[in-house]
Amino acid sequence: MQAQTHSNPVEDTITRAREGAKTMRAVVQRAYGSTETLQLDQIAQPQVEAEQVLIEVHAAGLDRGVWHLMTGKPYLLRLMGFGVTRPKNPVPGADVAGRVVAVGRDVTRFAVGDEVFGIARGSYAEYAVADASKLAHKPESISFEQAAVASVSGITALQALTEVGKVEPGQHVLVIGASGGVGSYAVQLGKALGARVTGVASAAKAELVRSLGADDVIDYATTDYLDGSASYDLIVDIGGRNSLRKLRKALTRTGTLVIVGGEGGDRWTGGISRQLRAPLLSLFTSQRLTMFISAERQSYIERLAEYMDRGEVTPTVGQTYRLDQVPQAIDDLVAGRAQGKSAIVIR
Ligand SMILES: NC(=O)c1ccc[n+]([C@@H]2O[C@H](COP(=O)([O-])OP(=O)(O)OC[C@H]3O[C@@H](n4cnc5c(N)ncnc54)[C@H](OP(=O)(O)O)[C@@H]3O)[C@@H](O)[C@H]2O)c1
Repeated sequence: MQAQTHSNPVEDTITRAREGAKTMRAVVQRAYGSTETLQLDQIAQPQVEAEQVLIEVHAAGLDRGVWHLMTGKPYLLRLMGFGVTRPKNPVPGADVAGRVVAVGRDVTRFAVGDEVFGIARGSYAEYAVADASKLAHKPESISFEQAAVASVSGITALQALTEVGKVEPGQHVLVIGASGGVGSYAVQLGKALGARVTGVASAAKAELVRSLGADDVIDYATTDYLDGSASYDLIVDIGGRNSLRKLRKALTRTGTLVIVGGEGGDRWTGGISRQLRAPLLSLFTSQRLTMFISAERQSYIERLAEYMDRGEVTPTVGQTYRLDQVPQAIDDLVAGRAQGKSAIVIR
């Protein structure tokens, strides 16, 4: 990707470049599509609103959501406020870690100079704005790269296990998709919460899952892990898109299923019917079948920071990429080549 400077006024809504405005390098996408739609541009720095913070980005994280928002698939998400014909926010990236350089007039929790991490609006850039309510102070014990890959996946795993899954010490938890973004946190948090954790992943990433603390690791390609030979108190379903019938077979009589997601659904809805049917079916069985959409709350990010500061959760930074390598980073993630979480290192 080559850096380009814009002079075309038609693109003002994308570049937000104004006379005299400070500029920055950023990855910009003008249309939904593949990584070929991404370009490295020189655009205006974002401006903070009253409850926002401007962050000098040190590192940004990559998760599946970035791919969904880049492609606009499933199409359903375009109707959920992300832009019908093209992305509303032209700069991709959500996970962020960096230093505060400006605060909105209503922000009291953060000051210029603070090291923060959390969820921003467009973090694949030298500067990004974030709602103050989606940030936490970065623990000194973790690096910017580690903090940058923590929030989106980490708070999803935290909610799946606690608020939704209500895991208890001693319970047996099955994490399907244990080597991925959400799964790598679910395994570590499950252990920190006192559960016995079995992780499902590809053989190539079994060692990674073991290093996260999983008690057992199962290769999904060679083992039918839902055949009923083992019963789990909690299944955190992050990959593989197994049917509800199969998942229920591997649950105890009063066990809980938490559907987080899974790739490969249809392009219109992403196969969300599985998620919608689970709570309905749950009304007629002793098992608890649930799904949820992660809530991007400061309290979860702060709780995650405490786990990381205590050393109970360590973000697994796999590959690191420069800003101009974001297309490569996304292609690697989608092809399954990412080991651990990928970070975009900007400073
Ligand atoms: N509900 C929510 O709010 C929420 C929040 C975040 C993410 N999500 C969704 O959750 C899903 C996972 O996100 P992520 O960031 O963790 O993705 P990811 O990093 O790509 O991880 C996917 C995981 O699924 C595993 N997997 C792939 N094929 C599988 C199969 N056939 N059987 C079992 N496991 C399989 C992968 O294992 P290998 O890599 O070892 O092959 C990997 O561990 C996505 O669909 C995402 O959109 C939902």
